[in-house]
Amino acid sequence: MIPNHPDSNPTAAPCVMVIFGATGDLTKRKLLPALCNLAQDNLLPKQFAIVGFATNDYTTESFRKMLGQEIPKYAPAPVDLKFWDGIAERIYYVRGDFQDPEAYKRLKEQIEQADKLQNALGNRFFYLAVAPRFFSPIVKKLGECGLTKEENDRWARVIVEKPFGHDLESAKQLNQDLMQVLTEKQIYRIDHYLGKETVQNVMVFRFSNNIIEPLWNRNYVDHVQITAAETVGVEHRGGFYETAGALRDMVPNHLFQLLTMTAMEPPISFDADQVRNKQAEVLHAIQPLSPEDVLKNMVRGQYGAGTVDGQRVGGYRSEPDVAPDSNTETFVALKLQIDNWRWAGVPFYLRTGKRLAQRTTEIVIQFRRTPFVLFRNTTVKNLETNRLVIHIQPEEGISLSFGAKVPGSVMKLGLVNMDFDYCTYFGLEHSTGYERLLRDCMAGDATLFQRSDMVEAGWNVIQPILDVWRALPARGFPNYAAGSWGPVEADDLLERDGRSWRRIGEEEIDKRGRIAAPDKAGIIT
Ligand code: BG6
Repeated sequence: MIPNHPDSNPTAAPCVMVIFGATGDLTKRKLLPALCNLAQDNLLPKQFAIVGFATNDYTTESFRKMLGQEIPKYAPAPVDLKFWDGIAERIYYVRGDFQDPEAYKRLKEQIEQADKLQNALGNRFFYLAVAPRFFSPIVKKLGECGLTKEENDRWARVIVEKPFGHDLESAKQLNQDLMQVLTEKQIYRIDHYLGKETVQNVMVFRFSNNIIEPLWNRNYVDHVQITAAETVGVEHRGGFYETAGALRDMVPNHLFQLLTMTAMEPPISFDADQVRNKQAEVLHAIQPLSPEDVLKNMVRGQYGAGTVDGQRVGGYRSEPDVAPDSNTETFVALKLQIDNWRWAGVPFYLRTGKRLAQRTTEIVIQFRRTPFVLFRNTTVKNLETNRLVIHIQPEEGISLSFGAKVPGSVMKLGLVNMDFDYCTYFGLEHSTGYERLLRDCMAGDATLFQRSDMVEAGWNVIQPILDVWRALPARGFPNYAAGSWGPVEADDLLERDGRSWRRIGEEEIDKRGRIAAPDKAGIIT
């Protein structure tokens, strides 16, 4: 993990990757393109094979052919076919039902054969790209046919996709089921947000810069905002989304990754458990929510018809596979308090939603205002506060705003920006976000994967919200127009505290780095 550390880049070991649900979207959109990118960067082990397992009617030949045609269409960036060919010849396919013991026999034979052909040394990892109801039965079957056994230095690991449970109880049950067969060290609970470069950089930014960390606490920070806004609706996933909703889909996983990376104490090393211990501590320190807190500090919303990117779009209730009177939320905003020595009294405001005005994921650290006394007898009427924005996507970078004197004989202050843009400094990376995670799994580094206690601690925070919302179904849905910034209650949540959400997209920064809002000249007298 750490640059300059002898163990910082553990190499991916020879292995067979087995993809359950290999004919689904994830394989062609993310997993295979990520493997091509790893091959291009010379980071894929030479002794490597892929075995796809699914119910669809393919042979190894037709499966390779289908992927070869589909990957260029779906991959986020063009895949260099030179590397694809090298991978294609190491792909095998087994057709079978996830519940059928006979299919597992065929799978086992194919894995052993692929292992022999590619000299994968008996190591294997299973990627469960399947509906969550199959997680436990698949792992049970893998155990029964001896595929999860680790002996003579051979390892066996299982990557589990989200959602990991749909509430606290089901997450605990799933952990128990997996642990009947596997040890914690064999389980890699994936959250693709941790594969994002800028999310990983939060830790590096905080802990490798001496000017940042001393300010990163309740003495200097007024509040923190975390936004994950999407312009897309539920697309073809209405059926799944109806059972999930924005809270389950985004908060205990992706938003809590951003929250814990932002709020955690410095770990003593980048060792997987050291880092994850610190993340878990943050989740445990979140003040438990009473039913009153839920009613006061949690906002839910659902989009109605509106305009997104200049296009008229329908409301959530008219999406395919969505009930016409659905009460599922497509937006949430919450206020959480982390009741520890670093953060007590500093609210963390989180929001996420579909069909919002702009696609943006960002973390805003809003610093406290300085004393005004010096400016009392000047023309300056108020002081803007310093704000640090960590841009996760689509822009990737960090910007810090601060006040400066506008040249002239009258005292005027301008709000100016210092910007770091990933692309300008480091150039564009060809990345799907899965490269690092797949390689880490092959190398046995679980730092960027969820541990069972973290998953349960996350659900523990969320459970009171689920309980209250189940008891009191939402009234007045839809309550925001597609293309807006969500329901008005989300603005009220901050306004009650004398604060407001960062106005994303409304602050145009001119060439000299000045923010042209609130007044076009960047002057905030
Ligand atoms: C997924 C959610 O986990 O993350 C989706 O299920 C959501 O609903 C997606 O759209 C967002 O990921 P990203 O990387 O586009 O921010």
